Amino acid sequence: MAILLTGIAGFIGSNTAQKLLARGEEIIGIDNFNDYYDPTLKERRISQFLGGHDFKLYRFDIANSHDLAQVFAENKIDKICHLAAQAGVRYSFSNPDIYLQSNIIGTNNLLELAHKYGVKDFVFASSSSVYGGNKKVPFSETDNVDHPISLYAATKKSNELQAYVYHHLYGLNCFGLRFFTVYGPWGRPDMAYYKFTDSILNDRPIDVFNGGQHKRDFTYIDDMVAGIISALDNCKGYEIFNLGHSQPVALEYLISIIEDKLNKKAIKNYLPLQAGDVPETYADITKAKKFLGYNPQISIEEGLDKFLMWYIRYIV
Ligand SMILES: NC(=O)c1ccc[n+]([C@@H]2O[C@H](COP(=O)([O-])OP(=O)(O)OC[C@H]3O[C@@H](n4cnc5c(N)ncnc54)[C@H](O)[C@@H]3O)[C@@H](O)[C@H]2O)c1
Repeated sequence: MAILLTGIAGFIGSNTAQKLLARGEEIIGIDNFNDYYDPTLKERRISQFLGGHDFKLYRFDIANSHDLAQVFAENKIDKICHLAAQAGVRYSFSNPDIYLQSNIIGTNNLLELAHKYGVKDFVFASSSSVYGGNKKVPFSETDNVDHPISLYAATKKSNELQAYVYHHLYGLNCFGLRFFTVYGPWGRPDMAYYKFTDSILNDRPIDVFNGGQHKRDFTYIDDMVAGIISALDNCKGYEIFNLGHSQPVALEYLISIIEDKLNKKAIKNYLPLQAGDVPETYADITKAKKFLGYNPQISIEEGLDKFLMWYIRYIV
């Protein structure tokens, strides 16, 4: 099976590629190695794949339809796993353009070429952020998601609509996966658990918004990758799935676990809840359990242990 995987050098993309290659799939990867965070981390993530006979890498921006068309012309693609995106809620306040280019135009270029080249299956990353300020927990796929509170969230909701059009018009099988706060080894330096670890180890204060009271449904990378691969294996029709751990954790508790494991106290700088931030994310995963056999296993304590071991080995 030849799988086109966008965002291959990203946190989730590189981990997904590793599992797919291990089970014998052929991977055609695309990434533009942008500097939203240190690109050397991206290079290190994919260095293990380079030179493998089942692995091909293209370095360019998916918003460039000409370059993208070349990849489809050169390769026979069976499935698409679209994980490339400009991520991050706060960054979208100051850099709206890049979200429109990468997330809206980039995604549409892929959908259009999938249709043109007869690719049947399209699995793509959406986000829990589409739920906006949804007060009802846990968040269910049937909840209304018409009120995003950041441009990032709006682009992810748009991706779900764009994919639906290609499913409706051309019968493309599309599964949209709403990821809930993914963490683990090789993670993203812009995310809170990573920044807290870095700051605690380097005696820098950490910004704790909303008194550390807001909650995130932290989901360990291996659990998430299992869900993505099951979506690739079972993609049929058009479906949206929540992929989370379904056990929200307060930021204050997350910090206390990191402090305990590092045996070092954080210097906390308490700040109010930020615009665009939601107080809680909490996934109802009934649908993914039923249709994808999704069954997240790793507790926050165990997952952070694995992350911190990796961090101390590779980053410190
Ligand atoms: N990590 C999370 O908690 C989380 C939560 C919800 C949704 N998501 C979504 O999951 C996907 C993967 O996220 P991640 O955490 O691995 O992020 P990441 O930033 O580590 O990975 C994204 C990768 O895509 C690449 N990329 C970005 N724009 C591109 C473009 N225009 N052309 C080519 N490559 C491009 C980046 O260089 C990066 O390597 C994204 O779509 C993200 O929005 C992630």
